[in-house]
Amino acid sequence: MAYRKIREIGDPCLKKKCRQVEEFDERLHSLLDDMKETLRLANGVGLAAPQVGILKRAVVIALEDNKMLELVNPTIIKTEGSYVDTEGCLSVPGKAGEVERPKKTTVIAYDRNGKRFEYTGEDLYSRCLCHECDHLDGTLYVEKVIRFVDIED
Ligand code: NI
Repeated sequence: MAYRKIREIGDPCLKKKCRQVEEFDERLHSLLDDMKETLRLANGVGLAAPQVGILKRAVVIALEDNKMLELVNPTIIKTEGSYVDTEGCLSVPGKAGEVERPKKTTVIAYDRNGKRFEYTGEDLYSRCLCHECDHLDGTLYVEKVIRFVDIED
């Protein structure tokens, strides 16, 4: 596992629509392993492959209890409700902003071996699913922000 440099706003990789993953091979596995390592080291909630310069539809999300969720070719199939809260992005350092997102989001995705599964996230995880799926289509939260908020770090 290796840390991969996180691309920041202004990098063209963050504006591209990513390709579907077709080979569930070693290369995909090491990409996912590196993304998990990178997310851990960056202390983030979610990371999408284009954020490390790879234009493939792969996402990792940090769940509770140090678990990580890997989503390959995720598609949002259902959302419920909506709410506004503050979110940030590892590719937009030093900023945070209020964004409206669904309260509950269900995706269909594949695991690293190509097995299809369904996952439903609520609140923070619903927000994160939507934020990361947006990355795969070249959209950053700053394009959806209602207003930026001050952050202390
Ligand atoms: Ni992000």
